[in-house]
Amino acid sequence: MIIAITGTPGVGKSSVSYVLRKDDFEVVNLFKIAVDNGFVVGDDKRRASRIVDVGRLDDYIKENYGRRDIVFFEGHLSHFLKCVDRVIVLRCHPDELKIRLSNKGWKEEKIRENIESEILDIILCETADVHPWENVFEIDTTGKSVEAVTSAVMEIINNKFRHMKKYNIGNIDWSDEILKDF
Ligand SMILES: Nc1ncnc2c1ncn2[C@@H]1O[C@H](COP(=O)(O)OP(=O)(O)O)[C@@H](O)[C@H]1O
Ligand SMILES: [Mg+2]
Repeated sequence: MIIAITGTPGVGKSSVSYVLRKDDFEVVNLFKIAVDNGFVVGDDKRRASRIVDVGRLDDYIKENYGRRDIVFFEGHLSHFLKCVDRVIVLRCHPDELKIRLSNKGWKEEKIRENIESEILDIILCETADVHPWENVFEIDTTGKSVEAVTSAVMEIINNKFRHMKKYNIGNIDWSDEILKDF
């Protein structure tokens, strides 16, 4: 089973992955595998990011990881992979996201772009375009430690991906935050 861990930059995908790896899970960084295998096909200069050939990456992952018991792919593009069986979207309140990204030393413009994306549910909307809602789970990381977020991931897995209200999509709504000046 292939599980995507996605979310706006700063929500804690890599931090949770670190803990999952310590617990002996296989967690692959999607961008790294894209770079290592030549699936980065260009630069998006306006957004200062790289362009990944998600279609070829999808085929590669299906071929090489499709038979694993459990493997995680983490990255803010992982929900675009059609081969993914379940998607976990990490979320973070804009106020806290701002602090996390500031602490990472990100430029103000990039911080604002990502906060806006989080408020507008961009990643969740993109996910819903590719995957049926019953395969998608959301975890609010706001005010939770990395260990607590990892426990939430484990709860979803241990519950065999049956739905629990608290992880259903649609619980999180930060639309009021759009009126704030970040
Ligand atoms: N649950 C959390 N609570 C507080 N800070 C966190 C949490 N998860 C991550 N962070 C911090 O926020 C920043 C972004 O986390 P990171 O794991 O790099 O996010 P992502 O991989 O989603 O971009 C890091 O400085 C990290 O230490
Ligand atoms: Mg990361």
